[in-house]
Order: sequence, then structure tokens, then C-alpha cells
Amino acid sequence: MQKLKVELGDRSYPIYIGQGLLDKGLLVPYIKGSQLLIVTNETIEPLYLERLKATIPSHFKVGTVVLPDGERYKDLNQINTIFDSLLDGQHNRTTTLVALGGGVIGDMTGFAAACYQRGVNFIQIPTTLLSQVDSSVGGKTGVNHPKGKNMIGAFHQPQCVIIDTDVLGTLPEKELSAGMAEVIKYGLIYDEAFLCFLEDHIDGLMGLQPELLEQAIYRSCAIKAEVVAQDEKEAGIRAWLNLGHTFGHAIETSEGYGAWLHGEAVGAGTMMAADLSCRLGWISGKDVQRIKSILEAANLPVYPPETISSDQFIELMSVDKKVIDGNIRLVLLEKIGMATVTSDFDAALLKETLKAGKSLGQCC
Ligand code: NAD
Ligand code: GLY
Repeated sequence: MQKLKVELGDRSYPIYIGQGLLDKGLLVPYIKGSQLLIVTNETIEPLYLERLKATIPSHFKVGTVVLPDGERYKDLNQINTIFDSLLDGQHNRTTTLVALGGGVIGDMTGFAAACYQRGVNFIQIPTTLLSQVDSSVGGKTGVNHPKGKNMIGAFHQPQCVIIDTDVLGTLPEKELSAGMAEVIKYGLIYDEAFLCFLEDHIDGLMGLQPELLEQAIYRSCAIKAEVVAQDEKEAGIRAWLNLGHTFGHAIETSEGYGAWLHGEAVGAGTMMAADLSCRLGWISGKDVQRIKSILEAANLPVYPPETISSDQFIELMSVDKKVIDGNIRLVLLEKIGMATVTSDFDAALLKETLKAGKSLGQCC
């Protein structure tokens, strides 16, 4: 088992990474009071709920809420369902919520924990690659609004994150690819050597080779922890973690939540960010082809859907948390291994990227 720490003063917390961690009862020392509520969904419940519950000593009062599965249910109605369970079970301020699931469950459980009685503790047990390398770490919680992704939410850090890499064995292949989009992101924005590691081992990673997966998850979480420790509330460098996301969120919102997986939309969005970075003269055509190759090797889409016009893109991208005074701000690549956040680009070049379709990346 490997251990990392997210350094946030008195809100610091550990991330445990390894095989078989679900059965080890690692969460027990992090349960504050005598009650806990495990939040999961109808897909994960039959796979992992009983195994987790078996590790919790009998003196704890354990409740469970099983939500419907899917991004389209990431809304305030499900938050109310969690609140109903908490109130029905007479949970008090010392209660601990436990998120057992992917990013949807993690984001919603964290948000419910941030709001219930003005804030209670929660623990992340992420079960998708995406949630293990990204959403479970850093304290961003929330739900979608029909007009924008993740528009309602709060920063609320967990007590600990427990990553059992074995659970990825039951993950559909498409979901593994979606998670790989966020892993690749870390190499592109922060660590070219890590990108080289991914390029060298992408087949083994997609084949779920345990040692490779653990290394990739460890490095991804280490980068995320480093970035969050520097900039918890996203005043600066944390925005780099949104490479491809402004384009990607527009795709998710336009196509209907769940039609494109978040990671798939990030894959196509990353290519769009690379294309624009190239048009601005920051990265080369060879860099863009390199990015396309690794995304394709991870079976990710590299073009946005043809159904979205450039005007629609602009409209959707204008509902983004990075927008300031009506200006779209984008995360772009200054070079492989270094990102930047900027609104200082020629709008005509952005239009070219949005209109490029299947010729995306062939600009320079
Ligand atoms: P998800 O939570 O919808 O999970 C994907 C699918 O896999 C679901 O059907 C789920 O039931 C299933 N599943 C989960 N674990 C499984 C397992 N071990 N075996 C079999 N099936 C399993 O999607 P996701 O990709 O984990 O998360 C996407 C969400 O995360 C989006 O809502 C996105 O906005 C959010 N997100 C948040 C942050 C953050 O910082 N908070 C970062 C990135 C993404
Ligand atoms: N996933 C982006 C962030 O946590 O900031």
C-alpha cells in the first residue's frame, strides 16, 4: 500500500492506494461519531457494499442510501434523497458520510456532507479510474444544473481517500478510457516524464496491469495533491487541471448529461485545446499529433460531435466557472508539461478550432 498526503494545514488528509484496500477497514479511524451513512448507487451496491460494511465494527450505526446510476441523476433531487436518509436516521453533526462509487457519487456525497447541518465529515472510496485519479481528491463537490455542468457546489475536503485498485477489474472498458483522459491530462499540464511513462505503457495500463496502474494512479494523485495544496480554491494553478474541460463541459451539456462520458468529452476537449495552442504558435503540429496518438491509444474520442455549431460552443462555453466579466478563459498548453490559463487569444483562432471538425490538429 502507498500513502500520500494532501497538505492543507488542519484539513490535511491521507490518500491510500493499493490492492484489496476495500477489505482492510482503513476508514474506521476516520469515522468521527457513532453513525455513518454510506452513499452508493444501484450498480456498485451489489458489487462492493457488503464487503465495505463487513469491515465496520458493529458498534457503529451504519445507514445506506442507494441512488440511481448516471450523470443525469447528478442533481439536487438526489441531494434531497441523501438529506432524507440523514434526517430519517436522525444523523447529527458528528455523522460521517461515505462515498462508495465513481465521481458522480463522490461529488454528490461531498456536497451533501458540505451542506448537512452546515457541514459534516465525509470519506471518499472512489471506484472508477477517473474518481481515483481526480474527483475524490481536492474537495470539489457539487451537482449539475440543466444550464451548466457542476454549477451548484462547494469546496469540502474529505477526511481520507481510500483507493482500491482491484475494483477497476469490474469497470467497463469505456469508463477506463474516460479515466485515462484525466491521467493523460496530468502528463500534459505538469509532467512530461509522466507522459512518456504513459506512452510507453499505455497497452499495459489499458490491460489493467496492477503495478502499472498503481504507479499511474499514485503519480496522478501526487500531482493533484501538489496542485491543490498550492491553490485549494482555484485562484491560479488549480485551473490547469481543467485542460480540455471548458470544451468538454460544452459537449456534455449540449449532448445531454450521460450521452458522452465526462472523460470522453475531456478527451475531445483536450484535442481542441491542443489545436488552439498550436494555432497560437505555442506547441508544434508534432506535439498535437503526439497528443492525438496517446488519446487514441486510450480509445478516447479526438473530435467533438458534429452536431454542435461554433456559435453553440461559444454560448455553452460562456457558462463556465472560469469566465470573468464575460470573457471565456481557457486552459491551453504553453508546451508539453506546462499549461496556462488565458483569455488573451484571438477570437478568430478559437472560431477556427471550433469549426475544424475532423481536421482538428491539422492546422500547423
Ligand atoms: P460515474 O461516477 O458516473 O461512474 C461511471 C460508471 O461506472 C457508472 O455507471 C458507475 O456506476 C460505474 N462504476 C463505478 N465504479 C465501478 C466499478 N468498480 N465497477 C463497475 N462499474 C462501476 O463517472 P466517473 O467517470 O467516475 O465520474 C464522472 C463525474 O466526476 C462527473 O460528474 C464529473 O463532473 C465529476 N468530476 C469531478 C471532479 C472533481 O474534482 N470533483 C473531477 C473530475 C470529474
Ligand atoms: N478536476 C479539477 C479540479 O479538481 O480542480
